Amino acid sequence: MLVSATEMLNKARDGKYAVGQFNINNLEWTKAVLLTAQKLNSPVILGVSEGAGKYMTGFKTVAAMVKAMDECLGITVPVALHLDHGTYDGCYKCIKAGFTSIMFDGSHFPIDENIAKTTELVNVAHGLGLSIEAEVGAIGGEEDGVIGKGECADPKECKMIADLGVDFLAAGIGNIHGVYPANWEGLSFETLDAVNKAVGAMPLVLHGGTGIPDDMIKKAIFLGVAKINVNTECQLVFAEATRGYIEAGKDKQGKGFDPRKLLAPGFDAICAKVEEKMRLFGSVDKA
Ligand code: 13P
Repeated sequence: MLVSATEMLNKARDGKYAVGQFNINNLEWTKAVLLTAQKLNSPVILGVSEGAGKYMTGFKTVAAMVKAMDECLGITVPVALHLDHGTYDGCYKCIKAGFTSIMFDGSHFPIDENIAKTTELVNVAHGLGLSIEAEVGAIGGEEDGVIGKGECADPKECKMIADLGVDFLAAGIGNIHGVYPANWEGLSFETLDAVNKAVGAMPLVLHGGTGIPDDMIKKAIFLGVAKINVNTECQLVFAEATRGYIEAGKDKQGKGFDPRKLLAPGFDAICAKVEEKMRLFGSVDKA
């Protein structure tokens, strides 16, 4: 069931669990995430970066595929189709294409410009029943060409953006997209605590979910995180399972080259990873 992410995240925030945002890349990814959410009776957010949208030939294609798949698979759990790290133009394209949620990443603009653009997009999104996420303090690392320095968010700026009426807020707390380097200092719970106190009951978003140790995830949820984004980890298990299949020569046995067989181990690996994360985040049976 396609819905905005507002209600599922407010419920998560109140219930002290988090809803996973799993970024999708193609049909296999989408099907794996939807079926796992349905199996576990969990709400879920499908994240689409601008790069992944382009790869899938445009946001219109993505929205059409997700809507049709949701219906054809008989998905009854709440599913939000969300633009990840959207540009100003990208937000409008997704609104037009039929997404149910957008993220406007204005973190690289001076705060005044971030405020002006976010205000406009909040009004447009809410007028159409979509949820909207904003970001303060850039998430480190690189995701699909979006590069961030990884600075911690200023709680005062978080409050300013939260007061514009966004539905959930991504605050940089030392988190990084991609695999964490060996010398990573960990999440700044001091920053998270200050942001949480500054923004009141607003659900917070933790980007860069790949590789964050379980105890840090649990502490982050305790301090107000209600949405956790995972992308790289699904890519890694998909690649590893596919490599295993090919290295075992299975593509050369019988009709093992059939793409439906070749992609099956990767598909299963994504399902298992999504299940592991949903159990860790506590969203199972919360649909
Ligand atoms: P990872 O790729 O590190 O899991 O980050 C995902 C993310 O934050 C998407 O916005």
